Amino acid sequence: MNVEFADRVKRLPPYLFAEIEKLIKEKKAQGVDLISLSIGDPDLPPPPFIIASLKEEVANLKNHNYSFSQGEPDFRQAIADWYKKRFHIDLSQEEVIALLGSKEGIANIARAFVNSGDRVLVPDPSYPVYANGSTILNDGIPVSMPLLEENGLKPDLEAINPEKAKMMFLNYPNNPTSATVDKAFLKQVVEFAEDNNIILCYDNAYSEISFDGYKAPSILEVDGAMDVAVEFHSCSKTFNMTGDRIAFAVGNKQLISGLTKVKSQIDSGPPVYIQKVAAKALASYSGDEQPDFLKKTNQIYTERRDVLVDHLCSMGFKCNKPKATFYVWLNCKSNSMEFATKLLNVGVAVTPGIGFGPHGENYVRLSLTQPKERIYEACKRMSALFECADTQ
Ligand SMILES: Cc1ncc(COP(=O)(O)O)c(C=O)c1O
Repeated sequence: MNVEFADRVKRLPPYLFAEIEKLIKEKKAQGVDLISLSIGDPDLPPPPFIIASLKEEVANLKNHNYSFSQGEPDFRQAIADWYKKRFHIDLSQEEVIALLGSKEGIANIARAFVNSGDRVLVPDPSYPVYANGSTILNDGIPVSMPLLEENGLKPDLEAINPEKAKMMFLNYPNNPTSATVDKAFLKQVVEFAEDNNIILCYDNAYSEISFDGYKAPSILEVDGAMDVAVEFHSCSKTFNMTGDRIAFAVGNKQLISGLTKVKSQIDSGPPVYIQKVAAKALASYSGDEQPDFLKKTNQIYTERRDVLVDHLCSMGFKCNKPKATFYVWLNCKSNSMEFATKLLNVGVAVTPGIGFGPHGENYVRLSLTQPKERIYEACKRMSALFECADTQ
C-alpha cells in the first residue's frame, strides 16, 4: 500500500525536540545519571485526599458509564463554584465544558471555528499545540506574535495585522517564559479582540502555580471578555494530575457550544469518576484561599526556584525569579540546541528554546520539577562547566 499523510499532517513543522530527546535517550542508555530539568510534568504526587477520592469513585460501579459530552452537571457546577470563589465570576453551566486535558480543548477549539486559510495569532515562543495541533491540523495559518523581553514578553498588539485573523491564543502565566501579566494588559487584549472580531483563547493552565503572593488573574475578570473569550484551565499542574487527563474550559456560551459540538463527534468526555474527583479537588478551596497542599507545593517550587536562579546568577547569567509557573527561562546568549547539548554532556537535560518557536532561540527552559537536592547537583554540574567555583 502506498500510504501518504494528509497535507495538513505534512504541513506540521519538524519536531525540534526530537534531536535533544534522542541524545537524552542515548545518555540514559549509557547509564548516565541524568538530571532532567526538561519536562513540564510535576514530580510531586497528587495530594492524599485526591488519591482516596479516586479509589472511592473508581469502586462505585455507577461511575463507569459514558459521561455527557459537555461534562457531568456536578463537575460543571463545581467548576462554576470554583470560579466564583477564586475569581469572583458568575458562570452558568452552559458556560462550562469538561475536557480530557486542556491540550485536547486547545486542539479542538480551532476545529469548531477556524476555516481553511483563516489566520490564528500565536505567541512566539509558545506551547507548540497552539500552532500545530490546533491551527495547522485544522487547516489554519499560524501567525507569529513575537514575545520580546523589551515588551515584557507580551505581544505588541499595535504591531499585529488583524486581517483575516479568526482566533488568538494567549497564555499567562506563560510556558515557556514564565512571564505574568496584569489586568491592564488583559483589558487591552480584550479590546483588541472585540475591535477585530477575534476569538480569544486564553490558556490559564498555570494560574495556581504562583509565588511571592502573586495571584494570576482570569481573562474573564475583564469587562467584555465574556463576549469574545474562552479560558482553559487544567487539573494537571494545579493538583499534580497530568496523567489523569482532566481539565475544563469556560467562557462565551457560543464558543463553549462550538467546542461541545465538535467534541460530541470525537470523544465521550472524561471518565465520570475522574470528574467526581476533580470536583472534590476544586472544592478544597475556601474562598479564594488556596488549599494547604497547594500552598505547600508552591513553597516547594519557590525554594527550588531560588536555588536555581541564585546559582544561575552566580554563574554570570542574567535571570529573574519568576512569579509563576515551574519554569525558568534563561537567556543563554547562544544557540539553544548547542547550549542544551553542552549541558547534556554534564548530565543536565534542559529544553532548547527554539522548540517553542523562532523567538525562543538563544533561550533554554529549565523546569523546577526535580527535588531541591537534584537541582543543587544540576547547579554544581553547570557551575563546573562554566568554570564557576561557588556552587553552594
Ligand atoms: C501552556 C500549557 N497549556 C496547556 C497544557 C496542557 O496541559 P493538560 O493537557 O495536561 O491540561 C500545557 C502542558 O504542559 C501547557 O504547558
